[in-house]
Amino acid sequence: MTSKQRLPFLRSSFWRLAVGMPHFVRTGQIGDGREEACAAYVEANARRGDIDDVLDTIDTFATEKSMLVNVGDEKGELLDAAVRRANPKRVLELGTYCGYSALRIARAAPDAEVFSIELSSGNAAVARRIWSHAGVDDRITCVVGTIGDGGQTLGALSAEHGFGAESVDLLFIDHEKSVYLADLLAILDRGWLHRGSIAVADNVRVPGAPKYRAYMREQQGKLWDTVEHKTHIEYQTLIPDLVLESEYLAG
Ligand SMILES: C[S@@+](CC[C@H](N)C(=O)[O-])C[C@H]1O[C@@H](n2cnc3c(N)ncnc32)[C@H](O)[C@@H]1O
Repeated sequence: MTSKQRLPFLRSSFWRLAVGMPHFVRTGQIGDGREEACAAYVEANARRGDIDDVLDTIDTFATEKSMLVNVGDEKGELLDAAVRRANPKRVLELGTYCGYSALRIARAAPDAEVFSIELSSGNAAVARRIWSHAGVDDRITCVVGTIGDGGQTLGALSAEHGFGAESVDLLFIDHEKSVYLADLLAILDRGWLHRGSIAVADNVRVPGAPKYRAYMREQQGKLWDTVEHKTHIEYQTLIPDLVLESEYLAG
């Protein structure tokens, strides 16, 4: 990593991202077209059908062109390890963005079907272009919606995508931080997790998901067994972050 990559404040795209945060919270996109630009950059520069090259190309775009709110390369390695540990057949992700983490999950679990929930149809379109370029669009599905829509998206997952009792081996939570806990509880309520299912939650320190962290601490050794991984927010080494990896003990 160059000093510009380690020190995000030296990068103009970091400041454009900071300025775009209110737009991101409203729409799921930063507002300067960087998500579509990322898909175009991947199509122009990454070898078609090569997942490693597609992921490297997204990392290059995020460090050299425009910063993205992907899980990134450092936290991505924690995610990869959790995926290998879960050895999943079915994965549910909350928060697709440009499709980077879903692609990492698909790479680490070559036999898994990955379902990713995303509020923004624009992001879903970007992610599908990238998955198609990587050659894995047959086993990664983006469902436009949200767990908090009163049962519509949960219902679609069950009716159209085969979700049912104990069907989810890995849950990756990386969307709106204030609903991490509510959405986890809604999924638990459906009975979709089984003993040994793994839940991974990103950004538990920054921007922060304090209710989710408190719940996991309170349930330690009862419903969940959690490891708190100390790491950094994406694409820099200055700002600390936490990724929580939790094994479900019931089911
Ligand atoms: C941090 S990004 C996800 C990054 C992605 N997991 C990755 O690492 O490549 C968060 C995404 O969640 C979406 N989002 C925000 N609130 C949501 C919600 N309640 N349900 C589903 N998606 C949501 C945003 O539109 C955004 O694309």
